[in-house]
Amino acid sequence: MGNIILTGDRPTGPLHIGHYVGSLKNRVKLQNEGNYDEMYVFLADAQALTDNFDNPKKVKDNVLEVALDYLACGIDPNKVNIFIQSEVSELTELTFYYMNLVTISRLHRNPTVKEEIKLRGFEESIPAGFFTYPISQTADITAFKANIVPVGDDQLPMLEQAREIVRKFNSIYGDTLVEPNALLPENENARRLVGIDGNAKMSKSLGNCIYLKDSKEEVKKKVFSMYTDPNHIKVEDPGKVEGNVVFTYLDVFCKEDSFEKYLPEYKNLDELKDHYRRGGLGDMKIKRFLNDVIEDELAPIRKRREELSKEPEKVYEILKKGTLTARKKAQETLKEVKKAMMLNYFE
Ligand code: TRP
Repeated sequence: MGNIILTGDRPTGPLHIGHYVGSLKNRVKLQNEGNYDEMYVFLADAQALTDNFDNPKKVKDNVLEVALDYLACGIDPNKVNIFIQSEVSELTELTFYYMNLVTISRLHRNPTVKEEIKLRGFEESIPAGFFTYPISQTADITAFKANIVPVGDDQLPMLEQAREIVRKFNSIYGDTLVEPNALLPENENARRLVGIDGNAKMSKSLGNCIYLKDSKEEVKKKVFSMYTDPNHIKVEDPGKVEGNVVFTYLDVFCKEDSFEKYLPEYKNLDELKDHYRRGGLGDMKIKRFLNDVIEDELAPIRKRREELSKEPEKVYEILKKGTLTARKKAQETLKEVKKAMMLNYFE
């Protein structure tokens, strides 16, 4: 059997360059390598509602924002089915049947859920919908018989739980579902891009993100406000490269031709780092260089995004087409699932 690739995002905010280097770029690469039979990328709006149920406008607006980010980054709707989770109601039905296969204590032990409950301060008043979202996530994956799920390492416990549900289902009702495998990003540095303030995580609430939709001026302002080495005060001072956000980003964004294009007096990043360590290289200069390197990558994305955002109806048309295809596949799987569970009375 061929590969079926599936992944998704909660639409709770526009995507930032951490998402870009950590996952979007990889998706485009997978899409273009073509080593699959079907590929799906979806907007997990129903999952986003599990902890944003009181703010439906936020979720709705961000469905479009994230779809724009996908398309601007090069996810190609001719190769990938981009769909909206809530529009495939078969997923909800599958979730209900899978609920029987998972215990409350097992859900409590899911490290990602545990962490998120702490983060949100839910404690004793956890919404049942939120608590059970790993089950709904299993439905998302298995409805399409996906065997490859590109995700960040924070999602590994979800995949583990999904595999358990699949095994249990298949052992009770007969071989029906496919066990999924996570596909982690290769580049260590890109896996979790630090924020512009040096915080370990780029996050909206910390206000330390560079967004794909940021203007050229906004990006520049953010790059020039980046955390560097607080002890590197005068240009002549020796500077530290480790933990210096400008260098962390250069590690991720520098390309073969970046130096030739923007900083020809250095051969490569090692030379630049050596100079910084020795002293005599100012922060302004490395920031200007980083800004050029990032702009190189973001300018075409921003341009495509701006064009697409003028025609939201075209974006919805793409989502509708992807959703119809997704629905067909989910319907087939649901039929098999119900048959396996002897819920096929009128056949
Ligand atoms: N939990 C994922 C996130 O927070 C989104 C998601 C929902 C997902 N269902 C999925 C990812 C299925 C991969 C597969 O971004």
